[in-house]
Amino acid sequence: MTHTWHLASPVQSFVLHAQDSVMPEVIYWGSALGPEEDLEQLAKAHRSGITSGMLDELPPLSLCPERSTGFCGQPGLEAIRLDGTPVSPRFFLSSNAQETPGTLALTFQDEANRLNLNLHFSIDQDTSVLTFQSELTSAEDITLTWLSASALPCPPQTDRMLEFSGRWLGEFQTTKLSFAPGARERTNRTGRTDHSHFPGLVVCSDATVNTCGEAYGFHYGWSGGHTMVAEELPDGRRQVQFGHAKATQGKGKRFKTAPLYAVWSNSGFNGVAKAFQRHARTKIVQQVRPKRPVHYNCWEAVYFNHDLDLLKDIATRASDLGAERFILDDGWFAGRQDDTSSLGDWVIDRCKHPNGLAPLISHVQALGMEFGLWFEPEMISENSDLFRAHPNWVLGPLDQPVGRNQLVLNLARQDVQDYLFEQIEPTLATYDIGYVKWDHNRILPECDATQAISFYKLLDRLRAAFPQVEFESCAAGGARIDFGVLERTQRVWLSDSNDAMERQKIQHNAALFLPASITGSHVGPRKCHTSGRMLDIRFRAWTAAQRHMGFEVDPRELTAEETSVLKTVTSWWKSNRHWMMEADILRLDTSDTAEIAEMHVAEDRSRFVVFSALLSPSAQILPHSLRLTGLDPDRLYSISLVNRSDASVLAQGRCALQHEDLTLSGRALMHQGVLTPWRFPESIWVIEGRQL
Ligand code: DGJ
Repeated sequence: MTHTWHLASPVQSFVLHAQDSVMPEVIYWGSALGPEEDLEQLAKAHRSGITSGMLDELPPLSLCPERSTGFCGQPGLEAIRLDGTPVSPRFFLSSNAQETPGTLALTFQDEANRLNLNLHFSIDQDTSVLTFQSELTSAEDITLTWLSASALPCPPQTDRMLEFSGRWLGEFQTTKLSFAPGARERTNRTGRTDHSHFPGLVVCSDATVNTCGEAYGFHYGWSGGHTMVAEELPDGRRQVQFGHAKATQGKGKRFKTAPLYAVWSNSGFNGVAKAFQRHARTKIVQQVRPKRPVHYNCWEAVYFNHDLDLLKDIATRASDLGAERFILDDGWFAGRQDDTSSLGDWVIDRCKHPNGLAPLISHVQALGMEFGLWFEPEMISENSDLFRAHPNWVLGPLDQPVGRNQLVLNLARQDVQDYLFEQIEPTLATYDIGYVKWDHNRILPECDATQAISFYKLLDRLRAAFPQVEFESCAAGGARIDFGVLERTQRVWLSDSNDAMERQKIQHNAALFLPASITGSHVGPRKCHTSGRMLDIRFRAWTAAQRHMGFEVDPRELTAEETSVLKTVTSWWKSNRHWMMEADILRLDTSDTAEIAEMHVAEDRSRFVVFSALLSPSAQILPHSLRLTGLDPDRLYSISLVNRSDASVLAQGRCALQHEDLTLSGRALMHQGVLTPWRFPESIWVIEGRQL
């Protein structure tokens, strides 16, 4: 007897097949199959032969590959009994599959080892994103060293991997690698999502580019450190697995992975980007206010210098520039003069704010802005009342190295959870606070899934108590960005780099997973505090306008001209946010390597905006034409250079778009492309398009 299950969306099919009741294999993952397809024939077509030098049966590359079948690659589950003997499971379907349209749950049992494994699958009809999650129960305590959300095969034609790494101020860097015999394993042991190991992967072919080619995208929605295995078996088959960081789930009877999100694309990296962006925006992030407010964050303007008159002055100026939400960052609580003290003592500093936060909040609100506040709840300073009272609340040994002068609280303790809730709750209850920036500035001394689960629990408790508050996930910039935290937050702080040159690169790669509406981007100071680079206000402002816009520049440093530019760009952003924050960000394939370009395209393709940034001087003298994407080839579009007044005299005014709007078909725009005027490096062209 055979079993076949077909998860389908309008554009994608994912088919599982099992002989008798063994662990199923994926026999098809790609373009949507029609009703005429005979899935039994498909399964036969998938069956490989064998030859000499192999076992007499090909060990299945199943959803949970088992060593007991002769499989010598990465198994889906690794565990040891408390007496030290390894568990070598062999699962069989134990009950009928639970199926609803778009979802499937399969239950397996290993009688000899007294294990149960539940595998959950779903496919989203709107975004086509597949979700995989597994749950293991054992009759006796075992030590789990690895549990994969699901092992997923990748076809031989997609033999490249686009990986993600990074650092503080340089998040979302990519590396393209070839599959090669053996396993590529990446384990993040920092205990948080971290800059260095964003839990994502795109498997593609050498020919895949942004706008065309085949790709499989993967993202593990978990904030506590993960392991990824991408393996080529000796027989040529390939698999990808994601789970919690190896050896971090420890001893117990019940274990559950986070959801693994995956999608197939035949429209290049943009197919993956579009699916993940839409999924994050419409299925993962909750309770987001539709009108994204322009932020002003005072961190780079004042750091720890919280002088009330100064803050009021800055708030007034920020509001005049167009800010709609004012965020009081680090430095407002109990003796926090610098980053050496006070984390854990979440009471208002009465020297800096003798009458509490009310005078500042009233001022901010009188300007028509919402008030937001910074916290870093999971941390503790050695120089704090909390540490003096409860040194035993620290996670890990007391003689561990500190990070940014701080230690981490053990959130698994209920007394720590209660203390943090009771410290934060009064501030949120007393004051009209619409937003919390939740920071996390160091790695953990040990990587343990319990800490991440406990972080979710604390945040969920606060969200339940204050459903009107929006939360932003920040961790020394972008070190905690994943769909797990995004189920609980409405914005991410992508990077501590407000250097627009760096932002261009970070934003571009992050768009493979993140939509504009949740990706914070701020206009930084003229001389960037983290790079020393001086950048023109136009470049800084338009770069921030590509995402959820905000300012971090001290408004007192702005010249009249800079003020005017910033106001103009902000007002442009405000009048476009209603559609841009729901648009798809599509990355463009630029033939000039000095250029990074993207389009925001409305879901119905009726309008778009192109941002084309030139990061350094081009190798050749004239601009290359920029081919657009994602348009209706048969419709006409009127295109207009929004910032044509930014053209330098060296452009000499010969390019038509510098003076007039043009009308072209989507076909022409996607094939011939658009020529923009000559320009200086470190500048951006912004082109609006509307379907006629
Ligand atoms: C790190 C964050 O990424 C910054 O934006 C700022 O909030 C500081 N922490 C404050 O200490």
